[in-house]
Amino acid sequence: MGQPAKTIGRVPADHFDNGFYGQDILSVSQFDRDKLDYIFNVAHEMRVLVERFGSADLLQGKILANLFYEPSTRTSSSFMAAMMRLGGQVIPMNNVQYSSVTKGESLPDTVRTLESYADIIVLRHPEMGAAATAAHYAAKPVINAGDGVGEHPTQALLDQFTILEELGRVDDLKVTMVGDLKYGRTVHSLTKLLVNYDVEFVFVSPDILRMPKDVLDVVRETGHQFTVTDDVHDVVTESDVLYVTRVQKERFTDLVEYQRVRDHYIIDEALMATAKEKMIVMHPLPRVNEISYAVDEDPRAAYFRQMRNGMYIRMALLAAVLGKA
Ligand code: CP
Repeated sequence: MGQPAKTIGRVPADHFDNGFYGQDILSVSQFDRDKLDYIFNVAHEMRVLVERFGSADLLQGKILANLFYEPSTRTSSSFMAAMMRLGGQVIPMNNVQYSSVTKGESLPDTVRTLESYADIIVLRHPEMGAAATAAHYAAKPVINAGDGVGEHPTQALLDQFTILEELGRVDDLKVTMVGDLKYGRTVHSLTKLLVNYDVEFVFVSPDILRMPKDVLDVVRETGHQFTVTDDVHDVVTESDVLYVTRVQKERFTDLVEYQRVRDHYIIDEALMATAKEKMIVMHPLPRVNEISYAVDEDPRAAYFRQMRNGMYIRMALLAAVLGKA
């Protein structure tokens, strides 16, 4: 993390100096293996807590401002659920069209307003770098819930947590990412996180949706093996993780191009028949057509379990940043 802790209010006498207290969470580059282990251990405890007791009062008296300039189902509601299950409360700014943003209020002013009422801000925004801008102006911690085609660090954390929970390790795996690797911020963040481990990457996409150079550079510079291809059939048999993404219609300026690539890959039962017995299919969701509904019944389909893990990871992060993990 590295920056001085932001002020959340009076430092609680029982707060833990866990390296996360008062920190913004903007990018996966803030996490090394020790920090990842810490968050995954806390997330595991959160799972046990929810399964046994449903909720706790760890964050009682704390308020989260949930500020979403882009649509969201999972990230938004899992942050809210995470806060509420830990006894905190939420200001749900999920419909910014009904806020003063439509009157022309700037992001810095909106953030300064919300931090007057809340202890922590979660932000999703269509522009890359918006979370860093918000964090610059905010005296309270900001968590990046997706900034345009930039990063989605909490998604990458829950993705890796899912790999760990499902396969028992992250090292020595072949991770295949399929679909919209250009605009899919989840695959950018996950790749940058997985380079901390001994992982071999396969990037499968149509030509126009290739993984950006800056992400490939990180893979190269960290000495990881990777393959770039447009054929998923060739690589599925060897994959331990098949991470499928939606083609992001909202990022295209030319809808004809979108139509041309939208159904390029469809993971179906026939393809799954060629996959390993012990492997998992992941998807950050929402899905459109890229995984057939019949695959949902396959025990290797981990995407709904992955989605549930989002709440445990976000409980862990909120507790850690607020000094209670
Ligand atoms: N995975 C994810 O970010 O989903 P939402 O867009 O629904 O938040």
